[in-house]
Amino acid sequence: MDLKVPSTLDDLISALHQELSGTCADVERVKWLMEKYEAKPEEYERFCKWDPHRYTRTLVDRGNGNFNLIVLCWGEDQGSSIHSHADSHCFMRILDGTMQETVFDWPNTEKECTSEQLASLQKRECREYAEGSVAYINDSMGIHRVENASHTRKAISLHLYSPPFDMCKTFDERTGHERTCRLTFCNFAGRTAPSCKPEPCQDA
Ligand code: SIN
Repeated sequence: MDLKVPSTLDDLISALHQELSGTCADVERVKWLMEKYEAKPEEYERFCKWDPHRYTRTLVDRGNGNFNLIVLCWGEDQGSSIHSHADSHCFMRILDGTMQETVFDWPNTEKECTSEQLASLQKRECREYAEGSVAYINDSMGIHRVENASHTRKAISLHLYSPPFDMCKTFDERTGHERTCRLTFCNFAGRTAPSCKPEPCQDA
């Protein structure tokens, strides 16, 4: 691969701007950059915000409209709702701690299904991601929940969404019902104007 290891966050951002300037993303190349980024707490800590009740999302870079790079901070036992990704690529690099991803099949909306089949989402797999690793998903692979399953340790992850999106669908695991929700940022320290709103894409 003719790519340079990003040794700083600025290097990573520049490389991502180059890589994601065209119409289609090369998933393997982007994954490589996210994985090889030599993450240092002193670089990403200014994007970290902690909330005792929910995980936070802080925008790091808007990628010229081609992607969003976001730092997510997860307190002990905090997790997302089950959600889809609006036809975008989703990369998650673990900066600190361990994250768990549970992938589900899309709800079965076939008319001939029994009410039981319609009712609950089918779990496909559950994976653990250690510090330094990168997870990838898009809508063709299913829908997922990501969480910090640790009762004792916080976690921090760096997410890349391309193209960027601010609306997604969330799903009730028990009933399969979906709703549309808006994703927001808490940019107290990011590069964009401060705007901290409640985050609807989380379990209450
Ligand atoms: C994810 O989709 O990987 C995490 C959820 C989020 O971006 O809020």
